[in-house]
Amino acid sequence: MKPIVIIGEGGHSKVVQDIIAAEGVYRVIAVLDDKYAEVFEKDHVLIGPISYAEKLNEETDAVFVIAIGNNQVREKIARMLFKAGAVFKAVVHPFSSVSPSARLGAGTVVMAGSVINADAVIGEHAIINSGAVVEHDNQIGNFAHVSPGAVLTGNVCVGTGAHIGAGATVIPGKTVGEWSVVGAGTVVINDIVDDVTVIGVPAKIMKK
Ligand SMILES: CC(C)(COP(=O)(O)OP(=O)(O)OC[C@H]1O[C@@H](n2cnc3c(N)ncnc32)[C@H](O)[C@@H]1OP(=O)(O)O)[C@@H](O)C(=O)NCCC(=O)NCCS
Repeated sequence: MKPIVIIGEGGHSKVVQDIIAAEGVYRVIAVLDDKYAEVFEKDHVLIGPISYAEKLNEETDAVFVIAIGNNQVREKIARMLFKAGAVFKAVVHPFSSVSPSARLGAGTVVMAGSVINADAVIGEHAIINSGAVVEHDNQIGNFAHVSPGAVLTGNVCVGTGAHIGAGATVIPGKTVGEWSVVGAGTVVINDIVDDVTVIGVPAKIMKK
C-alpha cells in the first residue's frame, strides 16, 4: 500500500482515517498537527507538528491529504505544502457512489453515503461529507465543503471555499459564491453572492 501523511488530528481527521482504512489503498505513516511540538512514534505511525511534513516529503514517497474541516485553514496549509512539493491525493469511501464521469480534484475527501452524479466536477481539497448529494453537472470549487445530508440538485455551482451547511438544499442551476456560508437547513432558490452567510427558507443574507 502507498504511504500517506494525514495533516490534522481533530474530529474530521478521525473520519478521514476511517475512510483511508476502508479504502485499503494507502498506509498511514504519519499524522501531523500543530498541537504537537515534537515528533514521536505511536503504533508505528509518526506523530508531530505540521512542519515535519517537509522532511517526510523529502525523505519518503508519501502522498498527503489535509484532514482539517475549516476551509480557510485547509487552503492555507495546502498552499504551504504545495510550495514544498507535496503531492495530494483524493480519498473516497467505498460506500459512496461516484459516477465514472465525475471528476475529483487532488486532496478531496468523499465520505460514506454521499452520491456524486454524472459529469460533476469537484475541485481540489473539497469535502463531500457523509450522505451529501452532489447531482449531475455540479461544479464544486477548491476548498469547498458540502456538509452531511446537504442536497445540491443539478447544475449547481459552489464557489471556492464555500460551505454548504448540513441538510441545506440548493435548487437547480443556482450558484453559491466564493467563501460564502449556507446555514444548516437553508433552502437556496436564488444565486448567492461571494462572502456572505445565508440562512432560512428561502435563503436570505444574515451577514456579509
Ligand atoms: C449559519 C451559521 C453559520 C451562523 O452561525 P453564527 O454566525 O455563529 O450565528 P449565530 O449562532 O450567532 O445565530 C445568529 C442568528 O441566526 C439564527 N440561525 C443560525 N443558524 C441558522 C440556521 N442554520 N437556520 C436558521 N437560523 C439560523 C440564530 O437562531 C440566531 O438568530 P437570533 O439572532 O434571532 O437569535 C450556523 O448557524 C450554521 O448553520 N452553520 C452550519 C453548520 C454545519 O452545518 N456544519 C457542518 C459541519 S460537518
